[in-house]
Amino acid sequence: MGDAGGDRVTVARAARLRGTIAVPGDKSITHRALLCNAVAAGDAAVEGFLDAADTRSTLEAVRALGVAVEERGGGRLLVRGRGRAGLREPGDVLDCGNSGTTMRLLGGLLAGFPFFSVLSGDGSLRRRPMGRIAGPLRLLGARVAGRGGGALPPLAIEGGALSGGRFETPVASAQVKSALLLAGLAAGGPVTVVQPARSRDHTERLLRAMGADVAAEGAAVTLTPPAGDLAPAAVRVPGDVSAAAAWIVAATLHPDADLLLTGVGLNPTRTGALDALRSMGADIEELDPRDAGGEPVADLRVRSAALRGVRVGGELAPRAIDELPLLALAGALAEGETRIEDAAELRVKESDRVAATAAALRALGAEVEERADGLAVGGGARLRGAAVEAAGDHRLAMLGAVAGLVAEGETTIAGAGAVAISYPDFWTDLRRVAAA
Ligand code: S3P
Repeated sequence: MGDAGGDRVTVARAARLRGTIAVPGDKSITHRALLCNAVAAGDAAVEGFLDAADTRSTLEAVRALGVAVEERGGGRLLVRGRGRAGLREPGDVLDCGNSGTTMRLLGGLLAGFPFFSVLSGDGSLRRRPMGRIAGPLRLLGARVAGRGGGALPPLAIEGGALSGGRFETPVASAQVKSALLLAGLAAGGPVTVVQPARSRDHTERLLRAMGADVAAEGAAVTLTPPAGDLAPAAVRVPGDVSAAAAWIVAATLHPDADLLLTGVGLNPTRTGALDALRSMGADIEELDPRDAGGEPVADLRVRSAALRGVRVGGELAPRAIDELPLLALAGALAEGETRIEDAAELRVKESDRVAATAAALRALGAEVEERADGLAVGGGARLRGAAVEAAGDHRLAMLGAVAGLVAEGETTIAGAGAVAISYPDFWTDLRRVAAA
């Protein structure tokens, strides 16, 4: 791997992939550990938190709301929760950076507080749809304004006492669901969210651990507002399966690979990519399965495997949402076609990931057709190193790197620094496991 100057990194095809990687802490769980404990009554210790740009956005926002968060080194934080009424009006705009999770979850939480706050972020975040939270939060009784009538950031929120409600959301989004559940903490009655499929359930697990009454039935979730304060919850953050996915796909596709990924969170609402890869023929062994603070965790040993094409859609799509670009890459090297369907949400992520993935894979020599809700990838490609554009999107930068490890020659990733959003040590880990 070499630095081609500026924000470009060049990845050469690896002779082999070997070694052990402790993937960084889970991004989704780190956001929730901060936000939920901020309104709990007392101190909560968080271990193994993800220290990356997105989670820093949440950490700084929580501080701006008057909650002390002590950094104790070694991946440990102490969140000094101030109780359900304890947040104070921020003196300035809350900068959510690139993080949709920060803006949507925080927006939901702030809807329950009787003060004024403004949430904004970077150019990518300011293009992402917020009507999906603004509409329901208004129905609960919060005042929410934003560009385009609340469709786009910045968002201005004046919250207060809310009513309960039942919402059927057209997309299976954990961010929308979580926003409504967090608003529900301040509601006068139950808040129910019904989604077309199950999305990640970390918010539900954590709120339950804090003493809240959260009932789930299929893809419907109901929070009954607690009478008093939430208890602080110590959180041991597992490794992020979405970060692990880059190495899982790299090791699967490379013909001489054997990687051990330690402490990977295997919450069943997150393991769609593992299921898809296994159905394609991947060799992913789960070792030492254990529990980390209410979340299932294991070490994963991944070895080279020949793959066949598969259809990824339906309930699998939300369970693999952030890994779909990597599955498309796996599909390009599989035998037969791979189809990614029911994934229109990919178009409104940090970039349009349907278009960006298609562009990257085509540049590398794969046959890819863009669909409104996904991708059709012809299998059996012979990938040749190329220039790949990360489009400011951390998942695209990692996709380019994984492709570079298995493509012939050299692949240059423009915008490689975007990995800092969710995996700051990504390039260091790559250098460690990839032999020249
Ligand atoms: C996340 C939910 C997903 C995912 C994002 C993190 C979360 O978004 O893409 O990276 O932590 O709740 P949606 O719920 O909007 O699909």
